[in-house]
Amino acid sequence: MMSQTYLSQLFSLDGRVAVVTGGSSGIGRAIAGALARAGASVVIVARREPELAATVEELTGDGCRAAWVSADLSTRDAVRAAAEEAAAVYGEPDILVNSAGINLRPPMDEMTDDVWDLTMAVNLEAPHLLGRRFGPGMAERGYGRIIHVSSQQAHRAFVQSGVYGVSKGGLESLARSQAEAWSSRGVTSNTLVPGFVMTPLNARLSADPRKVAELAARTMVGRNGLAEDFAAAAVFLAGPGSAYVTGQSIFVDGGLSVH
Ligand SMILES: NC(=O)c1ccc[n+]([C@@H]2O[C@H](COP(=O)([O-])OP(=O)(O)OC[C@H]3O[C@@H](n4cnc5c(N)ncnc54)[C@H](OP(=O)(O)O)[C@@H]3O)[C@@H](O)[C@H]2O)c1
Repeated sequence: MMSQTYLSQLFSLDGRVAVVTGGSSGIGRAIAGALARAGASVVIVARREPELAATVEELTGDGCRAAWVSADLSTRDAVRAAAEEAAAVYGEPDILVNSAGINLRPPMDEMTDDVWDLTMAVNLEAPHLLGRRFGPGMAERGYGRIIHVSSQQAHRAFVQSGVYGVSKGGLESLARSQAEAWSSRGVTSNTLVPGFVMTPLNARLSADPRKVAELAARTMVGRNGLAEDFAAAAVFLAGPGSAYVTGQSIFVDGGLSVH
């Protein structure tokens, strides 16, 4: 009992409201589940309704509080509308997780303005707009946790992914600027940095056993990432115990980045 009380003081999300973009698949889905099971009421935001509904059904089936909002986060108006819709479900969020992301992968020589615009809109501008919408309210209430999901490509080029890494580099800078703006009023902003994670985003690479084995060998743990690997880190960054951790990029990558 005593250890449970102690753990609750550090990690419990009881009574908190979270908005998780990309919460219907992969890393975002695992994070949404973790936050909900740690006590938060979670609103997940993405485009595809069947995936959203299935995720929420699983969580509510487990006794969690969860709801979904379908939105395409690639335009400013849609992001703004989604933010209002999400906040209307359980109230203004205490926790914002930006996991929605795309990797369109044309290499530099084949880059187009459209790919640049879409990549920056979903991966960088949506997190910025959601932060602007929710951050000041969190600061006013004295508690907020913003968690971004970037990529090893914010730190180095990888498999000719064009401008994807540019958007993720910007995202980590955004976290630092948000941290500077709001940390003194109880709002932290941090980034989780995945290496190679076996999710639908990587369907093509994940289908090549030789590539999968090569990438696993580059980690220290000896395997590629799973969405579930992000659960505990997200609960930590969302909870009371991480109040003094802000502006950081936290690598959850099996040691890939330091090997
Ligand atoms: N998997 C990896 O190895 C890896 C590595 C580094 C970083 N990451 C990052 O981790 C995050 C999650 O990726 P994942 O691997 O979990 O991929 P995933 O399984 O493909 O999930 C991506 C999520 O983003 C949503 N999304 C995509 N475009 C959207 C849009 N325009 N509007 C609203 N929602 C949108 C998707 O739902 P809908 O399609 O239904 O909209 C889905 O829920 C991304 O930011 C990704 O860049 C992944």
